[in-house]
Amino acid sequence: MASTRFTQQAVIITGASSGIGEALALRLADEGAWLGLAARRADRLEAVADACRQRGGRAIAIPTDVTDEGACRALVEHALAEYGRIDMLVNNAGLSVVAKFSDFHDLGLFRRVMDVNFYGALHCTYYALPHLMKSRGRLVNTSSLGGKLAIPYNSCYVASKFALGGLSDSLRLELADAGVSVTVICPYWVVTEFHEHYLDRDGRPKGPAGRKLYTKRTMTADQCARITLEAARRRRRQVLMGPGQPAIWLQAFAPGLADRVIEATFMRSLRRRSQPRPSV
Ligand SMILES: NC(=O)c1ccc[n+]([C@@H]2O[C@H](COP(=O)([O-])OP(=O)(O)OC[C@H]3O[C@@H](n4cnc5c(N)ncnc54)[C@H](OP(=O)(O)O)[C@@H]3O)[C@@H](O)[C@H]2O)c1
Repeated sequence: MASTRFTQQAVIITGASSGIGEALALRLADEGAWLGLAARRADRLEAVADACRQRGGRAIAIPTDVTDEGACRALVEHALAEYGRIDMLVNNAGLSVVAKFSDFHDLGLFRRVMDVNFYGALHCTYYALPHLMKSRGRLVNTSSLGGKLAIPYNSCYVASKFALGGLSDSLRLELADAGVSVTVICPYWVVTEFHEHYLDRDGRPKGPAGRKLYTKRTMTADQCARITLEAARRRRRQVLMGPGQPAIWLQAFAPGLADRVIEATFMRSLRRRSQPRPSV
């Protein structure tokens, strides 16, 4: 398939102030894309926008809390006013709480994760969609392997990403005639700030200890961004990273065994995280 470059294509990325979103922005800037960058931390966002401009892209930082529907509408309107079109929306903002469901004090944190990971994407999609239909553009949703296979102690994250996957699959069917592709990205672990921002059941971020699960082989944000952009370019429906493909086959054909493997893998990573290790 001929490869599309994103030169002069207007792209909104949420969660662009760090990690995968930042890496996507930098790669798109290298191709001369026009970027609308969204997240809450205005200073970090402005630094990313500045780096994008230095690399040859156009970029504006649009501080946005995606849990606020009105702010998402304003995000889309701002990008549209700046560039006159929207060719791609990347719903990438996300966070997680790691806690046993029965240990939650109440459902506030559960709702918070749903609000960012699912409703945040829903808000942006709703307001960007008419413009994506005009441009026969691309919708890209950053899910997770946890959006295909449940893992323990991440019930709100898993629920939010399964919901995002369901929304994506339904929209893909609805939008096929309009020429809008819907791509779901399911990364395994990626070295970002994500695991530092992991909240515990009291809503406290894990901090640098969250990075202990990374090894030298853990995917970098730039590697993840490269795979994501290739998938978007080719209008692929879904990308599974890490052990995703075999794990999904295992779950389809031997779900009991899959449960045991997932549990053992998860517990192994928890044990590794609780041992001291230099941060990466
Ligand atoms: N890293 C991994 O191992 C991994 C694996 C699978 C899937 N993912 C997914 O990848 C996506 C990106 O995460 P990452 O790994 O790059 O982690 P990250 O560095 O922590 O980035 C998360 C981004 O989400 C933004 N965000 C959080 N809450 C927000 C809100 N209410 N409104 C707007 N933006 C918000 C953060 O910006 P502000 O704090 O400035 O708002 C930040 O830019 C997430 O959807 C995550 O679920 C990550």
